[in-house]
Amino acid sequence: MAAYQIPEVVLESSNGRRTMPVLGFGTASNNLKPEVLIEAVLEATKLGYRHFDTASVYGSEQTLGIALAQALELGLVASRDDLFITSKVWCDDAHPHLVIPALKKSLRNLGLEYLDLYLIHWPISATPAELDQIEEKDPMPSEKDQMPMDFKGVWAAMEEAQKVGLTKSIGISNFSTKKTQDMLSFATIPPSVNQVEMSPFWQQKKLRDFCKANGIVVTAFSPLGAIGTSWGTNHVLESKELNEIAEARGKTIAQVCIRWIYQVGATLAVKSYNKERLKQNLQVFDWELTEEDIEKINQIPQRKMMVREEELVTATGPFKSLDDLWDGEY
Ligand code: A2P
Repeated sequence: MAAYQIPEVVLESSNGRRTMPVLGFGTASNNLKPEVLIEAVLEATKLGYRHFDTASVYGSEQTLGIALAQALELGLVASRDDLFITSKVWCDDAHPHLVIPALKKSLRNLGLEYLDLYLIHWPISATPAELDQIEEKDPMPSEKDQMPMDFKGVWAAMEEAQKVGLTKSIGISNFSTKKTQDMLSFATIPPSVNQVEMSPFWQQKKLRDFCKANGIVVTAFSPLGAIGTSWGTNHVLESKELNEIAEARGKTIAQVCIRWIYQVGATLAVKSYNKERLKQNLQVFDWELTEEDIEKINQIPQRKMMVREEELVTATGPFKSLDDLWDGEY
């Protein structure tokens, strides 16, 4: 029996497993040593984490797969069906004929027979890579490799992946409200999830409202500001406003932040490879922020915190400005 129970949210368009733990364990870190990740995953499963977030581009699928196999073998998790595993198709595989082969490659990496959720990582494609190439993928496609995505064709392949049971649910990531709306205009299986950067400093209010009205779950990535990564910032964990609330409630800033995300109706993938902080981040479901606290956080001046914006905004690529990429919503 795990130490903590994490609430779950319904994924309306899923085929099979219909719920997702609201708090997931993120694995997008630079230079993370495999042994550190394995130990953290084992610790996390003991604590009660069941939702693990990876992507082909993170280079963490194989190590996560090893760690989860160990957790199952050790009986820390009763069965594969108790886990919720998300991965994402990278830009160079975001082509109609490459989506399913890329998903199968992720499954091989993870040692799994199905994913719980497969996401389009960014709304942009890139020159296809050789599928069997072993070298690590480039973090972002270079300007000359960038190309507009065939959204309809790629989404049809995602739908096929769900229909044939390679994944229980499908979704999108880094899609603005407009791009999500466009997707809904032709999707026969609507996306279950849109995973975007979200924290008190980039609250994604418009997107959240739209997704809520359309049955799409928003998952926040980098909810604490992703310190320790190339795109990280200390704005969140050093916020004066969040600190005032944390002190008044006897909680940490990270807990206030996680609780705020949960209370405004979103889900999240948070990263920690530290035993104490893994635990601390789960201790957010037996207390509440007051309406005043929520309002105070809602008023925090927004900063533009785009992950690697500079690589995706190029003179000759599909997105000539941040406005193009985010349709003005940043
Ligand atoms: P660590 O692994 O040492 O705990 P994000 O989830 O926004 O990507 O942020 C991840 C970063 O936040 C990591 O550097 C992680 O460091 C740190 N972190 C995670 N949980 C906490 C916490 N409860 N308090 C302070 N820092 C945290």
